Formats: sequence, C-alpha cells, structure tokens
Amino acid sequence: MNAQHQPRVILLGPRGSGKTAVGELLARRLGVSFLDLDGEIERKAGISIAEIFDGLGEGTFREMESDALRAALRSDAGVIATGGGVVLREPNRELLRSDRAMRVLLGADPAILWHRVDADPRSRHSRPALTRMSGEQEIRHLLEVRMPFYLELATHQIDTTARSPAEVVEELMHIIAHNGLVHA
Ligand code: S3P
Repeated sequence: MNAQHQPRVILLGPRGSGKTAVGELLARRLGVSFLDLDGEIERKAGISIAEIFDGLGEGTFREMESDALRAALRSDAGVIATGGGVVLREPNRELLRSDRAMRVLLGADPAILWHRVDADPRSRHSRPALTRMSGEQEIRHLLEVRMPFYLELATHQIDTTARSPAEVVEELMHIIAHNGLVHA
C-alpha cells in the first residue's frame, strides 16, 4: 500500500454504535494505525471523560475534542474513531469535510444503542450523562439533533443493529476495496 492509496477511514456515529471496537479491528485488518479521539483526550488530560465533564464542564471537553480532532487529522492515523458529539461544532465539521478520508456513519436502532451503552462496563467511568433524560430517551433525542450532521458528513453508512464488529469490518473491507483502496 503506498501512502497515496493508503485508506483513511473516519468513523462517525452515536454512542454504542461500535466506533472504537470496529475501528480497532479495521485498523488491524488494514495494517494501519488506529486513533480513538476520546482515548487521546483522556490520555492527554490524565482523567476520564466523565471527570472532565464533572470538573471542567462540557464546554472545556468540546475544546479538548476540537484540539484532538485537529491533531488526529494531521497525524498519519489510518482509522480514526470519533466521539458521538464531534459533529456538533461547525469548525469540527469543516475539518472533517476537508479531510481526504472515507467518513463512515455507524448507526443502529436506539434501543440497541442503549442496550450496548448500558452493558459496557466502561460507561460508568467514562460516559457522562449529556442531558437530564433517561438512557434510551437521551439517545433518541441526541440522534434527532445530530442525525442531520452525521448524514451531511457521511460518505458511507452501515447499520450495525444486527451485526457484530467483525461483520461491520467485513462490510467496510468491501466498501474500501470497491473504492479501489485495497484488494478484497
Ligand atoms: C459524547 C460521546 C462520547 C464522548 C463524550 C461525549 C457525545 O463518545 O465523546 O462522552 O456527546 O455523544 P462515544 O460516542 O465514543 O461514546
């Protein structure tokens, strides 16, 4: 794979859509490096996302997220998993639009998204509540607000409702091969 044809894939989508799990597997499969924006923010801050929200507030988190996005897009990461709210700021959307990457929206049924978030042991430490709503209701509300942004940015979409991360990666490999970026 030469640098010009090395694929770059940015994963977008709500909490529980599997961006991190799919991203890790996909990067391994493509033999490229993986970067998780939330992971980078936590590593740099030395505290969890929930602690950033609690102690510094969502506004500070969004600043950190924009900085992390800018750094990620300047890096040679082949697969980038974003946080569900990265699409909220227009400057972030502009950065995402201007990157050469395939931008893949991972979606799923809201009940399934909530089930996955609720079952994920990392949620308790690292996923702050974003509204005063209850779990599935919050997910439905955020989807309503954010879906137009996800759809505007996505070059491809995959419904993960009934698919494991490995199955999603298979589909992504077909899409990537179809775009002439790697051999299937
Ligand atoms: C957020 C999603 C989280 C994380 C933060 C805010 C959001 O990322 O960035 O808790 O606004 O939806 P995941 O989508 O990886 O859970």
